[in-house]
Parts: sequence; structure tokens; C-alpha cells
Amino acid sequence: MSTIKVKEKQFAISIPEAEILTAVQRVADAINHDLEGKEPLFLSVLNGAFMFTADLMKRITIPCEVSFIKLSSYEGTSSTGQVRQLMGLNQCIKGRTVVIVEDIVDTGLTMQKLLELLQAQEPAEVHIATLLLKPDKLKVPLHIEYAAMQIPNDFIVGYGLDYDGFGRNYKDIYTVISD
Ligand code: IMP
Repeated sequence: MSTIKVKEKQFAISIPEAEILTAVQRVADAINHDLEGKEPLFLSVLNGAFMFTADLMKRITIPCEVSFIKLSSYEGTSSTGQVRQLMGLNQCIKGRTVVIVEDIVDTGLTMQKLLELLQAQEPAEVHIATLLLKPDKLKVPLHIEYAAMQIPNDFIVGYGLDYDGFGRNYKDIYTVISD
């Protein structure tokens, strides 16, 4: 399927599954190397990161835990700038090595807010693993150690990412081609 329709918009394939999985393996290799002995807690940001989290965790070979948090900052195809915490942490992170697992860092506002929320609980260290980064859209300084892939500013769906709730189910990533 080289093009798909999600609601009223047309999308064309831009990152096929094989390319995504190669990038996910690269991130897993780096984390396995860097965080060995630290028993990290992977904190996956729902909903968008669910597919990335599953594929990443299958490739993590060091002892670790995984948990989930739900935040929201997006309506339609542009960031609202409003970040809300919807579903809190039910795990103590004090003194832990935490790895945030995100689908995409766009303006970075969601990540900044999440870092603030986590820092308040005094973790030992917090690392960021994101499947995608739109470097030209970044509005806040963030130290992102693990970015699987960098993409241009276009809106995308698939592999967990949605347009108004739809399109998360595709195994490949698609870029919008019509409004
Ligand atoms: P930020 O706060 O602007 O960095 O936005 C981050 C969140 O916006 C991500 O976790 C996604 O849920 C969503 N997002 C950003 N860009 C896209 C996109 O191109 N497609 C789908 N969702 C996106």
C-alpha cells in the first residue's frame, strides 16, 4: 500500500517497516550498551509510542521494567501547546534510571512537561528515546540521546502515530500529501 486515506487526508508511504525496525534495533543496541547494570525503567508515552515500545522492548536484553503514562498535547495536525497529564505514574521512580519512550518529538513541549513531572520525583537519571524527531520544529532545548530517525516538518501517521485518532494501526509510516 503506497498511499492511504486517513479520514479526509491522503498519505504516501515515507518510511517502510524494515527501515523503522533497523532504526529501532540501533537504539536498542545503544541502550543495552549504555545502561547495562542500571536496571532502567522504560516509561512509554501512550498512545503514540505503543508500537515503538513493543518493538524496542523486544530488543532490550538488559534487566529492566516497562510502565506507561498518558499525556495529550495535540488536536488535529498542529500542536496546541497545551500539555495535560491524563494518566499518572503508579510506580516509584525515586533513585531510578528512567528512559522515556516517545513516538515523536515535534515542538518538544510535551517532552519538556514530562521531564518536569518526572524530575519532581527525584529519579537518578532520565534519558529520552524517541522514534522520530522533527529537529526544525524543536522550540525548547532538549538533550535527546536516542532518536531513531529524524524527519522533515511534514505531518505523518502510522506505526502508532495518528491523525485525529486514526491511522495508528499501519506498520509503515506515511506522510501527508493532501489537505
Ligand atoms: P510536541 O509537544 O509538539 O513535541 O508534540 C509531541 C506529540 O505530538 C507527539 O507525542 C505526537 O503524539 C504528536 N505529534 C507530533 N507530530 C506528529 C505527527 O506528525 N503525526 C502525528 N502526531 C504527531
